[in-house]
Amino acid sequence: MAMDTELFKQAREAASVAYVPYSHFPVGAALVAKNGLVFQGCNIENASFGLTNCAERTAIFKAVSSGVREFEMIGIYGETEEPISPCGACRQVLTEFCPDEMPVWLFSKAGDVKKTTVGDLLPYHFKNLD
Ligand code: THU
Repeated sequence: MAMDTELFKQAREAASVAYVPYSHFPVGAALVAKNGLVFQGCNIENASFGLTNCAERTAIFKAVSSGVREFEMIGIYGETEEPISPCGACRQVLTEFCPDEMPVWLFSKAGDVKKTTVGDLLPYHFKNLD
């Protein structure tokens, strides 16, 4: 998938099933795997707020639990004025599975785009102990 418009649509569609009774702030992620599959994720909240899972982590966990660990890009959509910016926890989880140079497309509600990378979102990050 090359076109960011298609990625935008997939991320926005993912947000449409977000479970957000507390924040009313739906977020969607579309994670494109190297094998061409697209894993969509939404945020899933909980009455115990800290147990909330963000859209980005839902997408990564869906992929990894399906046996897929190689990724090409991710698009993240929020109903925001400016392109959304992923939280620190999601940046760390992205770092675990995605190369630093992997493109990250951030989308606003209106479709404004900011393109960055996993490495730029979390420079000098913690890696595993190997
Ligand atoms: N959220 C995400 O799903 N992804 C982000 O990048 C930012 C925040 C969710 C968590 C919570 O359900 C809601 O947005 C408000 O913080």
